[in-house]
Amino acid sequence: VSLEIIFSLIGLKMFIIAKFGFSDITGIDYSPSAIQLSGSVIEKEGLSNIKLKVEDFLNLSTQLSGFHICIDKGTFDAISLNPDNAIEKRKQYVKSLSRVLKVKGFFLITSCNWTKEELLTEFSEGFELFEELPTPKFSFGGRSGNSVAALVFQKIKVSLTQKILVQINA
Ligand SMILES: C[S@@+](CC[C@H](N)C(=O)[O-])C[C@H]1O[C@@H](n2cnc3c(N)ncnc32)[C@H](O)[C@@H]1O
Repeated sequence: VSLEIIFSLIGLKMFIIAKFGFSDITGIDYSPSAIQLSGSVIEKEGLSNIKLKVEDFLNLSTQLSGFHICIDKGTFDAISLNPDNAIEKRKQYVKSLSRVLKVKGFFLITSCNWTKEELLTEFSEGFELFEELPTPKFSFGGRSGNSVAALVFQKIKVSLTQKILVQINA
């Protein structure tokens, strides 16, 4: 399958997807040791369809673009917890995501920090909910909820008029 996939994470899912036969997979992390660790797993597993890059998702190289799928587990959470200007960093995350993904491209996010409703607000500009993935439920004090949110968003085409309106309202 010749989908281009970018991972804003280095994790087990990347290796599982590689085994499903996707042919063009890029894994990124801004930590060189995370990339090094993933490199050794790739070598051990004999997977040649994964490229690894040390990249800051908030300041990506220009050649990273045109991806069909972007998968994040824990990176948006980590960025959100940054004590140094987290609000601005979250906005930058959405901009970077928009830049790397093709229109109609999918964004899969797993978060332990944010609820479904909060994620819908965070990614309301330029993305729409495609599907909610099932995650474990828990009950406490007579109420039930999910400890993890896993959502699939799709990038929508923002028309020039909408863009201008967003700028004026900003
Ligand atoms: C909570 S860990 C999740 C790791 C992995 N996805 C997993 O599920 O085990 C968050 C990862 O995001 C990386 N990270 C945080 N901020 C980043 C950024 N701005 N750009 C790229 N990677 C970042 C960290 O280095 C860390 O490896």
